[in-house]
Amino acid sequence: MEETITARRFIATLGMDIPRHWLPGNEVVSSLLNAYTILVPANEAFYIRTLNGCLPRIPDGALRARCEAFLRQEAQHGVAHKRYWANLDAQGYAYRGVERVVERCVFRVMDRLAPLWLRVSLVSCVEHINAYLGYEFLSQSILADADPRLRDLMEWHFAEEIEHRAVAFDLLQAVSPCYPVRMLGAAMTATLFHLLLTGLAGWLLAQDRLLWRRATRTQLISHLGAGHEMGRRSFEHLRDYLAPRFDPYCLPGADALAAAVLTRLGAEHSPSVVPMAPRN
Ligand SMILES: [Fe+2]
Ligand SMILES: [Fe+2]
Repeated sequence: MEETITARRFIATLGMDIPRHWLPGNEVVSSLLNAYTILVPANEAFYIRTLNGCLPRIPDGALRARCEAFLRQEAQHGVAHKRYWANLDAQGYAYRGVERVVERCVFRVMDRLAPLWLRVSLVSCVEHINAYLGYEFLSQSILADADPRLRDLMEWHFAEEIEHRAVAFDLLQAVSPCYPVRMLGAAMTATLFHLLLTGLAGWLLAQDRLLWRRATRTQLISHLGAGHEMGRRSFEHLRDYLAPRFDPYCLPGADALAAAVLTRLGAEHSPSVVPMAPRN
């Protein structure tokens, strides 16, 4: 199976009146996705540097073309999420120092110290995490009641993560198909991703003086447990990734979910998302 990857721009206006907790009644999920928004630009810039380092060595023209399409999508994700930083600034959150530290002490250090095969393995695993997060948020309609502007931003990103979910894994198979390389990348990425995301979300909640509330604990337990079941589901998706015969396409119904979102957001009257002109 080979996917079609279309680069799109997110053009909807993100007004300054978006509430700081834009998923009503769920400050935990709002803060987790605000943390995601803060981490996306540096994270995706790391993918771009890593794949650009690989491309000249990839003899397979079809894979190279898929990587180039992937890079165009990722570049737009960074641009769109960074637009929301103006809202976070206006809401008074202090996060830019933390973001700079993560950029310099995690991603730039990886650039310098980690060999290319390991960096590709890190990208492959984080792309699996992005894809299954997107799949869970879309299939469970977790953002159904969210502010529609943030819902559109997140769901567009999630849909494209589903669309290009196999590219980084296929690149890893081309660069280093050795199973321990996948395991090492998965162990490092899963640890780092969850530490950064939950640490930053906790810091945002602490600034709102909501971190130690009983309702926050209840929301977190519901998100990880009986509500969205993200604890068990994340564990199962990560276990799938570690199966020797892992197939990135094995998310039942994922393509239809992504297509429905992209059709809704690209509707002719006031689209939130527009396709970019193909590159020659
Ligand atoms: Fe992305
Ligand atoms: Fe991605």
